[in-house]
Amino acid sequence: MSAAGSKSAQRRMAIRSVVKGCMADGVCAEAVVARLALHLRVEIRVAELAEIVLEVVPSNSQEKERLQEVAGLLRRKPGAFATLRATGAAVRHARDDDETDAAVVRRLALSFDAAAAISQTASVQLASLGDEERLSATTEEVAAWLKEQDFTGTGRDILDIGCGIGRFERALAKSFNRMVGIDISSRMISIASDRCAALGNVELRQTCGLDLTEFDDSSFDCVLAVDSFPYLVLAGMAERHFDEIARILKRPGWLALLNYSYRGSLFLDRTDIGRLAEAHQLRVVINGEKPFRSWDGDAFLLARAAEHYRAPPVRTSNKRR
Ligand SMILES: C[S@@+](CC[C@H](N)C(=O)[O-])C[C@H]1O[C@@H](n2cnc3c(N)ncnc32)[C@H](O)[C@@H]1O
Repeated sequence: MSAAGSKSAQRRMAIRSVVKGCMADGVCAEAVVARLALHLRVEIRVAELAEIVLEVVPSNSQEKERLQEVAGLLRRKPGAFATLRATGAAVRHARDDDETDAAVVRRLALSFDAAAAISQTASVQLASLGDEERLSATTEEVAAWLKEQDFTGTGRDILDIGCGIGRFERALAKSFNRMVGIDISSRMISIASDRCAALGNVELRQTCGLDLTEFDDSSFDCVLAVDSFPYLVLAGMAERHFDEIARILKRPGWLALLNYSYRGSLFLDRTDIGRLAEAHQLRVVINGEKPFRSWDGDAFLLARAAEHYRAPPVRTSNKRR
C-alpha cells in the first residue's frame, strides 16, 4: 500500500473508532456528530465521512438506526459540520504546562467570545448542530428534568454559573423568584442580555471566573452549572468553586451539575464529587446519570439539609476502673 493509501486507511480507522466509542456509550446521533466535529484533526469531505460512519458494523438494530441517522445528519447539513468544527476548535480543552490557573480562565473567556461569534447555539452545545430548534428542545428537556427533581421553586433564588447565551434563564425564569447568570465571556453576557431583555427577574453579569466573592454567604437556594464545571476543572478552579458554592448556598439548598468534567471517566467524576460533597455536607442525590434523550450529559444533583449536621458528642468516662 502507498504512503497516501495507508494514511487514508489510518484516518478511516480513527474515525470508525470515534464512532464505535459513541455507539458503546449509547450517545444520540447529534452527539456523535458533535464528537466527530471535535475530534477530527484532518480535513475531510462530509460525504466521505458519512460513508465511513456507515462502515462501522452495528452490534444491534438500534445501533444500525443510529449510524444511519448520523450519516443522514452529516449529508443533510454539510455546511453545519464545518461550522461545528470551527466552533469546537475555538475552545482548546487542554492546558499548557506553564499556564497558570488564572491564565487558563482568561484564555477560555476569549475562546468563548470567539466561539459565540461563530455560532451562538453551537458555542453552548455542540450537539445542537448550530440549530436553534434543536438547542431549544434539549433546553426544554433539561428544564423539565430539573422541575421533576423539585430543583425549581417560585420562592427560590438561583445562581447559574457559566450561563452562556442565557438559554436556561429563558427556560426557567418563571420557575424561580430571581435568576442570576454569570459568565467569564463578555460576548456570552451580551448575547444573553439581548435574549433575556424581557425577563424582569433575570440578572446577568460578567464574572472573573476565579471565585464567587461578589455574592454574600447564604444568598441562593439553588446553583446550576450546565457544561461549565468542565472548564473549572480544566482551570484547576473546581475545588475553589465548590467551597464558594457551599458558602453562598442557603439551607436547604440544591446544586445541579450537568457534566462535571470532560476527562472521560465517570468514575473519576463520581469520586471527586463524592469527596467534595462530603467535605461540604452535601448529599449526592443523583450520581452521574444520563437522564436525557437529546443530550449525553452526565447529571449530578446535590442537596444540603435544612439543618446543620452536628456529630453527636463523643462520650468519655472519667471513671477509673
Ligand atoms: C459550553 S458553555 C455552556 C453555557 C450554558 N451553561 C449552556 O449550557 O447553555 C460553557 C460556558 O461556561 C463559561 N465559563 C467557563 N469557565 C467559566 C468560569 N470560570 N466562570 C464562569 N463561567 C465560565 C464559558 O464562558 C461558557 O459560556
